[in-house]
Amino acid sequence: MCGIVGYLGTRDAYPLLIQGLKRLEYRGYDSAGIALFNGQLAVHKCKGKVSDLEARMGKDVPQASLGIGHTRWATHGEPNDPNAHPHLSNSGRLVLVHNGIIENFASLKALMTSKGYRFHSDTDTEVLVNFIEFVQDAEGVSLDQAVRIALNEVVGAYAIAVLSKDEPGQMVVARLGSPLVVGLGNNEYFVGSDATPFLDSTKKVIYLEDGEMAVISRQGVSIREIASDLPVDAVIHQLKMDLESIEKGGYDHFMLKEIFEQPKSIGDTIRGRIDLKTGEVKMAGLDSISEALLEAQRLLIIGCGTSWHAGLVGEYLLEDLARVPVEVEYASEFRYRNPIIGPKDVVIAISQSGETADTLAAIKMAKKAGAIVFGVCNVVGSSIARETTAGAYTHAGPEIGVASTKAFTAQVTVLTLIAMYLGRVKGHLSLEHCAEIGRELALIPEKITSILGAESHIKVIAASIAKANNALFLGRGYNFPVALEGALKLKEISYIHAEGYPAAEMKHGPIALIDEQMPIVIIAPRGDMYEKLVSNVQEVKARKGHVISITGQGNEEVRSLSDAVIEIPDTLDCLSPLLATVPLQLLSYHIAVLRGCNVDQPRNLAKSVTVE
Ligand code: G6P
Repeated sequence: MCGIVGYLGTRDAYPLLIQGLKRLEYRGYDSAGIALFNGQLAVHKCKGKVSDLEARMGKDVPQASLGIGHTRWATHGEPNDPNAHPHLSNSGRLVLVHNGIIENFASLKALMTSKGYRFHSDTDTEVLVNFIEFVQDAEGVSLDQAVRIALNEVVGAYAIAVLSKDEPGQMVVARLGSPLVVGLGNNEYFVGSDATPFLDSTKKVIYLEDGEMAVISRQGVSIREIASDLPVDAVIHQLKMDLESIEKGGYDHFMLKEIFEQPKSIGDTIRGRIDLKTGEVKMAGLDSISEALLEAQRLLIIGCGTSWHAGLVGEYLLEDLARVPVEVEYASEFRYRNPIIGPKDVVIAISQSGETADTLAAIKMAKKAGAIVFGVCNVVGSSIARETTAGAYTHAGPEIGVASTKAFTAQVTVLTLIAMYLGRVKGHLSLEHCAEIGRELALIPEKITSILGAESHIKVIAASIAKANNALFLGRGYNFPVALEGALKLKEISYIHAEGYPAAEMKHGPIALIDEQMPIVIIAPRGDMYEKLVSNVQEVKARKGHVISITGQGNEEVRSLSDAVIEIPDTLDCLSPLLATVPLQLLSYHIAVLRGCNVDQPRNLAKSVTVE
């Protein structure tokens, strides 16, 4: 959460910083601000989005070739102008942007107040910049040393970029627990919470590691450990991402683009990983931990939000195909409940961004307890991808819409491959069955394409329920997690209160909510659970609920009981979540658009949650 950018070079910094902030808005959009240095430090910031900042600045922008910027997801203090970053120190000498939380900010603030410092915001960040200034004055050291000494006193998480009026031509950056990437251009340097801000200028990057800081000047980048002050050799990576993948490409919203990308993203996730004739799964990450997987008494899956839902589908897949016990946990709960975990456990950590603070902390905890941790991440080079023992990328490509879509189906695809792999090595999945799943999996992209072809029909259904205040999503078996995900999508982007339930649990509570006003989306594909779902639909209809069914072609019973039907092609039960999810994404999308909501940037949310 929160995006930070920086530029030091020969070009005009302002447009580069604004462009970078726009690309990082998925990390938060409560306020935006920039600091430009051209002999003077000029700070401009305001509540709202980057476009609000741009509008406020107008055309009268100082020319500068050094600057930093910030887009905020509020933690300490409400979203308003004073709380927006960058924050200046009391003397006006230092300016800083920060992503993360300084946990001991209250005691530092008390200390600083006793020294005469005054604060103009409610943020922990303003405390940090003043603390650095205080250290610098007290110790008589350079900016980088002051930053280093101050950070050694700080408890919490941060990615920061700092400028000093007295030390022009340099930017000091540091990270602990929040991501930070340095881009190496031609006589110019970039800083970003990820690499997208400067993707069109350079693909050469250095990922700063936790506990490292860098001094960026026109002479180059020097990296040191914050704790020891020892130099660190920079490892330069070459990015593979292209600019097109982070642009809307003619779609009204990133979310819609990403929904429509799913045939391709699932194809990319599968590519090269499965022999279509035999169903044999080839994944180097799995091979590297195959012994631990074979010996594991159980698997633990951890994640947050949509990734946790993918984990639930994974539980059904792994228990069904590989006959291995699975527990799925919210990373945030797992890390704080003294879980029983040890060297015989294999943990699968799922994260689109690879930066979610709770998931990262849970991984570290599991590793400390001796467990092997396998990461399923989308963002290449992300913290979780680097922290895990082994892993598999989902290859869904950059996901920018805050509500996750293609990342979810890619995660489920990877989990399917893991279940097939494990089913085979454990001897629970026959060659024939595995090959059948492989063949069906390969057909999923074209089946999704056919569902996407029904977008206009789904739009009509969306219009019929767009004014609802509540909605219920029901599913059973493999599609219970899909019901949870459908409900989450709707509440995230349209602000309609929605709940997902196992269809049979409806009678234990939610049935009391059903009346003519209540849309109930029932996921009832053809498969093992179909007959039971028909009974559940009947129960809803008897209470006059408004039924929207996601079902297979020719499922007449469900059709006759439904107010609206969205058909999905038949597939194997274990693959049905990959299809059933797609109409739910489109339904939520169109409802949100009809309600005038900001689909890509829903209120209060952020995509990369780097605070716990
Ligand atoms: C946020 C996002 C969700 C996402 C969750 C977990 O809440 O808005 O879309 O599912 O974080 O993120 P991760 O990157 O770990 O999958």
